[in-house]
Amino acid sequence: MKGILLAGGSGTRLYPMTLAASKQLLPVYDKPMVYYPLTTLMLAGIRDIMIISTPADLPQFKRLLGDGSQFGVTFEYREQASPDGIAQAFLIAGDWLDGCPCGLALGDNLIFADHLSVSLRAAATRPEGATVFAYQVRDPERYGVVSFDETGRALSVEEKPTNPQSNWAITGLYFYDHRVLDFAKAVKPSPRGELEITDLNRFYLEEGSLRVDRLGRGCAWLDAGLPESLMQAGQFVHTIQARQGMLVGSPEEVAFRMGYISADQLRTQAGRMGKTELGRLLRELANHA
Ligand code: TTP
Repeated sequence: MKGILLAGGSGTRLYPMTLAASKQLLPVYDKPMVYYPLTTLMLAGIRDIMIISTPADLPQFKRLLGDGSQFGVTFEYREQASPDGIAQAFLIAGDWLDGCPCGLALGDNLIFADHLSVSLRAAATRPEGATVFAYQVRDPERYGVVSFDETGRALSVEEKPTNPQSNWAITGLYFYDHRVLDFAKAVKPSPRGELEITDLNRFYLEEGSLRVDRLGRGCAWLDAGLPESLMQAGQFVHTIQARQGMLVGSPEEVAFRMGYISADQLRTQAGRMGKTELGRLLRELANHA
């Protein structure tokens, strides 16, 4: 399976912070925001990743992330000329996908959960259909919303509904089988002029192959698109790291734990972080391996 990290958009809700900088490169505590969804894709076992961003911001992503070899993965880069919708990512990546199944992570979505990598790997290796993750929120009208029948099967998906059928929002992490490009080509622009990911999900729902994994009470899903949620995400990461001495959202750590890089390579990455706490924690990890 290949992966797409979608990190374009306009970030208007974070103005003026995003007038001159990409939202997905803003700090979430001690790391750039994009590190968190990147580690999610890596935990799913995905090593071929395309990063899509705006023509203005893409060079900064290249500068930060390079070719991916430091994390034992491969990065490709492509521009999205204008933010015409999340489902457009598959059209942009179409030739590169070359008929492969694909996981898509939004660059401003952070998911933390115990045993997440088990569900991620299951989603990434499912041979047919699509898998999305749902999370209960107080303000479902801001998101794609999924409703369920009494047996727990997904009944409907709606984009930013005025009258939501449930309070289960679909998170910014999606896994699709090899047919995703064909389905994406069939998506028509919505009234707001975007190729909606919810319309793509509906194709899978209608043929009965959309699996919706519900994230439970102990999980955190944060989208860092507003000043308040950006701060909350940073506080969340800080709380866990300070309390447990464990890293959240470190691609270096995930690369090492997944066996993509050696202890020596991890030491080199730790060295690049200098005297930071992140550097110290990575060094400790390499030395106790
Ligand atoms: P949004 O939060 O819907 O949009 P935005 O990031 O442009 O922010 P704002 O509403 O403040 O203007 O986008 C969700 C994620 O998807 C975010 O990471 C940006 C990304 N995205 C793209 O990369 N391209 C697109 O065409 C769209 C619609 C979103």
